[in-house]
Amino acid sequence: MRRSIVTDSSEQRPNWRVITGLWPYLMEFPGRVFFALACLVLAKLANVAVPVVLKFIVDDLDDQTSQVVAVPLALLAAYGLLRFGATAFGELRDAVFARVAERAMRRVALQVFRHLHRLELNFHLSRRTGGLARDIERGTTGSSFLLRFMLFNILPTLLEIALVATVLLAQFSWRYLAVVLLSIALYVLFSIVVTEWRTRFVRESNELDSRSNTRAVDSLLNYETVKYFGNEDFEAERYDQDLAQWEQARLKNRLSLAALNAGQAFIIAAAVTAMMVMASYQVAARELTLGDLVMVNAYMIQLFIPLNFLGFVYREIRQALINIERMFNLLHEKPAVVDAPDAKPLQVTGGTVRFENVHFAYRPDRPILKDVSFTIPAGHKVAVVGSSGAGKSTLARLLFRFYDVDAGRITIDGQDIRTVTQDSLRKAIGVVPQDTVLFNDTIYYNIAYGRPDATREEVERATRLAHLDGFIAQLPEGFETRVGERGLKVSGGEKQRIAIARMLLKDPPILIFDEATSSLDSESERAILAALNEVAARRTTLVIAHRLSTIMDADNIIVLEHGRIVEQGRHGELIAAGGVYARLWEHQQQAEGEAVAAADGDRSLPST
Ligand SMILES: Nc1ncnc2c1ncn2[C@@H]1O[C@H](COP(=O)(O)OP(=O)(O)OP(=O)(O)O)[C@@H](O)[C@H]1O
Ligand SMILES: [Mg+2]
Repeated sequence: MRRSIVTDSSEQRPNWRVITGLWPYLMEFPGRVFFALACLVLAKLANVAVPVVLKFIVDDLDDQTSQVVAVPLALLAAYGLLRFGATAFGELRDAVFARVAERAMRRVALQVFRHLHRLELNFHLSRRTGGLARDIERGTTGSSFLLRFMLFNILPTLLEIALVATVLLAQFSWRYLAVVLLSIALYVLFSIVVTEWRTRFVRESNELDSRSNTRAVDSLLNYETVKYFGNEDFEAERYDQDLAQWEQARLKNRLSLAALNAGQAFIIAAAVTAMMVMASYQVAARELTLGDLVMVNAYMIQLFIPLNFLGFVYREIRQALINIERMFNLLHEKPAVVDAPDAKPLQVTGGTVRFENVHFAYRPDRPILKDVSFTIPAGHKVAVVGSSGAGKSTLARLLFRFYDVDAGRITIDGQDIRTVTQDSLRKAIGVVPQDTVLFNDTIYYNIAYGRPDATREEVERATRLAHLDGFIAQLPEGFETRVGERGLKVSGGEKQRIAIARMLLKDPPILIFDEATSSLDSESERAILAALNEVAARRTTLVIAHRLSTIMDADNIIVLEHGRIVEQGRHGELIAAGGVYARLWEHQQQAEGEAVAAADGDRSLPST
């Protein structure tokens, strides 16, 4: 039953060791667990006593000589009390244990959530969010289920079987016990074998469930794109293909479940019938009393009720184990970027950033950065330009340590960023990313996100600096306007300004602007750049830009081509050198000139 070498998921068995992973959650409330176990024993004792009392009642009533009504009355009262006791202790047990199970669920969910944030960017880029959410949901429900049912259904059933076996052996011949044990063994064996066989259907339907969910979420996230291409039917078609497979898998799941249930019912019926036949013969032969017959019957029914549950519980536990394992596998996913064991907080003195012979590839077979070296002296501004895909944003991601470099190193004030804590590193760097995604909340929330403990005045100041105040003043709901999923209800330029505002609020010593103003019109861009230059004046700044006119004033301009630095220098120097930068500049100036001319031309000469 240990890990097989075959890693095909449909062949994968539930890993029973997963249970041990839940132990710490149980031990969070040892008192409660102990009390719940005590209730469990009391409930089962009461339960097993019920048929015994019932036997005495029947025998008493059956006995013609008995005249005293008081005896059956006392027995009847005891019968009622025991019945109530069995249920009451059971409920008490559940009530006491509820906190343990719910707390475990909360802990597990939080642990997974934290872990997901620890995992590197690449994991999230290649992961499907919809499926991920389902995995977590099923995993946490599974943990709670497993805790509750392992302790409070499997265990009590075993205890009850043991108690009943004792009574049967003491009261009747060994044959009854043999029938009971044999039928239970058969029942358990049958349940396990059939459940094993069913597992792949269950797994298949889970996988298809995740997949169709992923597809639906992805399709809805791309709502606009779907509309641009009128592909609603295409999307529905693809979704339906997944659903059709899911339907098939669920159907197999249900049918196999019906087969399992029918088989179990047959075994129970056969065992009860056999016992009753045996008891009837003995009653007829006056070897047993009528009360004994009633008692045997009561036991059989009583025993198979939880046992019937045992089948269900076994299935569910297997299922839960698989789900939990899936979730735990996420937890075992090792983050690619981790703090060194002796990581210290980053000490920013001036904020000198240095790239030293940096090599980097997202995948081994396609190098992106090749031997990149440059320095941004403290408080200076360095710009990176180059064609699309040259690796500009990659530089920013490496500095932020979303990934680790393959060779070379990146330092801040002399400290290799791999030797400092990620926390302190990221606190020191402010990023306005190329594509800003907003939280589905209010504008205020999204800006204040830069520093959640900022006061309203500080948020408003950042808003003014980012030239957002005019826009917000126009909104009927002002700061409280909701931006929609991923911020799709505000314009690209507004989104960029929100990103700038929240970066200003964070107020770190090192700034990265990745095409931070690319969606703005020239006028707003000029205004914001003036504000940003003021902020950046005292800070180390890395600016990535396509529009060269925005970075003319940089202390150093780096031209990146295919992951290599091909030129660097000040604007004037690069122009004078007449290289790649000069050509780019020429092109852009020409294009801008043409655009202006064309606009003027349009106005004066409508015929062209
Ligand atoms: N997570 C990733 N996995 C694999 N390849 C990636 C990944 N991210 C980026 N790339 C590739 O790395 C190259 C450099 O990407 P980068 O984002 O740095 O380009 P860029 O210079 O910023 O381009 P642009 O001007 O278009 O923003 C691109 O060719 C891109 O396809
Ligand atoms: Mg980029």
